[in-house]
Amino acid sequence: MARQAIRFLRRGQVVELSSLPPTRTLLDYLRLEEKSKGTKEGCNEGDCGACTVALGSLEEGRVVYEPVNACILLLGQIDGKELVTVDDLAAGGKLHPVQKAFVDNHASQCGFCTPGFVMSLFTLYHAGAAPTRQQIADHIAGNLCRCTGYRPIIDAAMKACDGRPADQWAAGAAGAARILCSMHDGADVFVGTPESFVARPVSPDALSRLAAEHPDATIVSGATDVGLWITKQLRVLPKIILTGGVSTLHDVTEMPDRVSIGAAATYAAVYYTHLRAHETP
Ligand code: FES
Ligand code: FES
Repeated sequence: MARQAIRFLRRGQVVELSSLPPTRTLLDYLRLEEKSKGTKEGCNEGDCGACTVALGSLEEGRVVYEPVNACILLLGQIDGKELVTVDDLAAGGKLHPVQKAFVDNHASQCGFCTPGFVMSLFTLYHAGAAPTRQQIADHIAGNLCRCTGYRPIIDAAMKACDGRPADQWAAGAAGAARILCSMHDGADVFVGTPESFVARPVSPDALSRLAAEHPDATIVSGATDVGLWITKQLRVLPKIILTGGVSTLHDVTEMPDRVSIGAAATYAAVYYTHLRAHETP
C-alpha cells in the first residue's frame, strides 16, 4: 500500500500533504501557500539562485544540508527531507551568524539576491571545516549578484563559516536526525488519482510498473529541464513520476573501461566522487 501523502520536516514538525498539484514547485508552495515570502523569485528557471533554500538529508546518521533552487524543484521531491528557508534563520531577535556577517561586511545592497546567498552559505556554515576563499567562490557559483559585488559576500562567508556551527540547527541536529530517520518508512508514495498524480516509487519494480501503466506520465529526476517546462512553457503535466526514491538509481559504479551512472545520480555526486579523478589537467 503506497503512502498517500508527501511529508517533510519543517520547523521541527513533520508536514504531511495529501493533496497537491503534481507540478507544484517548492517556491510556489512557500510563497503562495505557506506565505513565507523571504525566498525570492528571480529568473524562475534555476539560474540566479535568488530562490535558494536548504534541504537536509540523512547521511550516515547525520543531517547534511545542501542548497537547492526552489523555483524548479517540485514539491514532491522534498519527501523525506528537512526544509530550511531564510524566514527561519533569525531567532529570538538575533540574526543568524551568516546574516550578521552580511551586515557587518556590507554584503548586500538592493538585497534581492541576499536570501539566496544567505541560504547557500547556511549550508556551507554547516559543512564542517572552514572553507577557503576558492571553496566559497565555488559554493556560491549558482548565486548571482548584480550590484554588491562578490568580494564583500566572500568576506562575510569567511567570517561566518568557521567550521564551528553554533546555531539552532547545530543544537538540534540529533533530534532532527531522529525525526528524519523515523520518516523513512520505505513506502512508495502516490498522491492524487489515476488521472492526475505525483508518484515517488522506491523500487525499480514499482517504477517500471507505474511507467508501464502510465506511458503518458512525465518521468522526473532532477527537474532542471522539466522545471522550465512548468515555469516557462506553462505546460500541463498531470502525471509525474519521480525517480529520486529508487536508491539503486543513485548508484555510480566504476568499471575498468567505463562508469555506470544511475539515472537519479546527481551531477555533484558523479563529478566530485568519480569523474574529477579522470580529468586531464
Ligand atoms: Fe532564479 Fe530560482 S529564481 S534560480
Ligand atoms: Fe543587489 Fe545582490 S545585492 S543583486
